[in-house]
Amino acid sequence: MASKLNSRFFTRLILPAFVLLFIYSTTLLYTPSGPANKSQIAISAPHPDPNPNPCSIFEGKWVTDPNRKPMYDETCPFHRNAWNCLRNQRAHMGRINSWRWEPRDCVLNRVDPEKFLGMMRNKNIGLVGDSLNENFLVSLLCILRVADEGAKKWKRKGAWRGAYFPMFNVTVAYHRAVLLAKYQWQPKDSVLSDGDGVKGTYRVDVDIPADEWANIADFYDVLVFNTGHWWGYDKFPRETPLVFYKAGKPIHPPFEMLDGLKVVLKSMVAHIWEKFPEKTLKFWRLQSPRHFHGGEWNQNGSCVFDEPLEEPQLDLWFNPSNNGVNKEARLLNHLIQEALKGTDIKTLDLTHMSEYRSDAHPAIWLGKKDAVAEWGQDCMHWCLPGVPDTWVDILSQLIHYHLGSG
Ligand SMILES: *[C@@H]1O[C@H](CO)[C@@H](O)[C@H](O)[C@H]1NC(C)=O
Ligand SMILES: *[C@@H]1O[C@H](CO)[C@@H](O)[C@H](O)[C@H]1NC(C)=O
Ligand SMILES: *[C@@H]1O[C@H](CO)[C@@H](O)[C@H](O)[C@H]1NC(C)=O
Repeated sequence: MASKLNSRFFTRLILPAFVLLFIYSTTLLYTPSGPANKSQIAISAPHPDPNPNPCSIFEGKWVTDPNRKPMYDETCPFHRNAWNCLRNQRAHMGRINSWRWEPRDCVLNRVDPEKFLGMMRNKNIGLVGDSLNENFLVSLLCILRVADEGAKKWKRKGAWRGAYFPMFNVTVAYHRAVLLAKYQWQPKDSVLSDGDGVKGTYRVDVDIPADEWANIADFYDVLVFNTGHWWGYDKFPRETPLVFYKAGKPIHPPFEMLDGLKVVLKSMVAHIWEKFPEKTLKFWRLQSPRHFHGGEWNQNGSCVFDEPLEEPQLDLWFNPSNNGVNKEARLLNHLIQEALKGTDIKTLDLTHMSEYRSDAHPAIWLGKKDAVAEWGQDCMHWCLPGVPDTWVDILSQLIHYHLGSG
């Protein structure tokens, strides 16, 4: 995707991006509530700021822990086939699930599904965004089901999929809205565009949320948003580009994709801010990194690894200035963080911890004979059980921190 970005973009954006990432990494602080420590129990009060004992749950390292076992297996009814790596007999699944994320200077507890659902009784959790949020949802559903095996599939208008946990009266669901903003296919207007190779366009209304999540503001108590993986020229190539509209009119001069993303982020964040109740706990999940090695997904890019990356390798893979295949995650994160500034939406910065885990994608084990030949390896989504289970640990700990005694 970013090979299409011009060099002006790099000089304009990359340098400030590093400065901001640095500032960000030094300010993104979080205090967990550890039941073992009285002074920490005190901070799980409804409005716990300022944090007396800050630490960053997103900074740390993966350590091997032979005692760590997944909480669910291939029989969880909420699996999606392509991510069900146990059933698809992906190599090294035991190894993949033996790693534990150890934050640098705070404790990350494993989610206790029963306690968590107890805390969420009569409340609902929604995820809104692209398939990486669906990946996250499946992990969450399979983990929570441990405490309520009567969990039922749940679907409503706008909700792509979800589950209802009857013992706790809790609904957890995913709303698919890959760009967050409303977008629709428009066939080519033959008068306007002759001989330019364009087959048609996708009209994106930057100021209108997609129908799939337009009416959910009162239903959910906790929401996790994301967008990012569709903002690329592999999803919307030059023949079928995105065309951005504001207040019902095409934006002039037309925006390139990332300028479009910037305005969409800005107006979706403003919409959430204005239309969603203040008491709703809102998170925005930053980019999930991809691990295509040796080429893009359609150029035999591979992630058949059996060990995570080491810290010194991360910049080689992900620092945009190294121009690697997977450099977009950090670039997009910068735009997202800019848009979230000054709002009550909390950043779920799972990028760095996930950057290590080149070993944990479905790769060639997709459960379908011709899938790799047709689609290439999957080095974008995550095996389940796997890395998103740790995302669930982090999300549940943050929810506990913010809602715990509410
Ligand atoms: C408990 O937390 C306080 C600060 O919040 C810290 O100074 C103290 O070392 C902690 N004690 C234990 C046992 O972790
Ligand atoms: C279940 O939770 C909803 C809120 O999500 C609430 O309106 C409803 O009254 C609850 N039902 C029961 C039986 O407690
Ligand atoms: C991918 O690998 C196949 C089989 O080895 C080869 O025929 C093809 O040319 C490769 N494609 C690219 C883009 O490298």
